[in-house]
Amino acid sequence: MVSDIAKVLYQESTILSRLDEMARQITGDYKGKELTVIAILNGSFIFMADLLRRIPLPLQVDGWSVSSYHGTNTTGRINFRQTQLADVKGRHVLLLDDILDSGLTIHSIKERLEKEAGAASLRVCVLLRKNVERVRHVDADYVGFDIPNEFVVGYGLDYNERYRNLPYIGVLNEEGIRRYAR
Ligand code: IMP
Ligand code: MG
Repeated sequence: MVSDIAKVLYQESTILSRLDEMARQITGDYKGKELTVIAILNGSFIFMADLLRRIPLPLQVDGWSVSSYHGTNTTGRINFRQTQLADVKGRHVLLLDDILDSGLTIHSIKERLEKEAGAASLRVCVLLRKNVERVRHVDADYVGFDIPNEFVVGYGLDYNERYRNLPYIGVLNEEGIRRYAR
């Protein structure tokens, strides 16, 4: 454990066991269908890699690079970094994100998908769901873990782009917040 972590919430083995269960459920729900996975980057890259290798269905993956968060507070703005988004017309879309917090990110992506693309179906899968009041009314269909309102890092989640490579999920302490503040 690096010294900037106040406590570990989920060890890697715990995360992977939970992914086994989630993958089984998703595989059952989409049996006989072809999935289009849209992963919200960068936060979901490790979650995506570990989850998708557990889903033995025909699928396509597209990464959407968006950002809404600076430091430990959401800005309320979503930036789409791509100009060209995948064509999802008639496809069964599964949105993957690392964490559902204010709901702004998933809400704006859902809105964009629903308006422009005409997907056959659209579901949301997140590794973590924070127990907070959402700014936008949105929920996830698949949830790894419900967590309290604390700022977490690791397993893809960052604080100012740091700590994504920690294999576990932990709560950042004041020292870490100060070290990489900007
Ligand atoms: P939203 O507030 O639901 O729009 O969440 C937006 C994004 O903020 C997520 O995809 C994460 O990248 C980031 N985020 C929210 N809470 C945390 C956290 O506790 N740690 C690290 N990133 C977070
Ligand atoms: Mg982030």
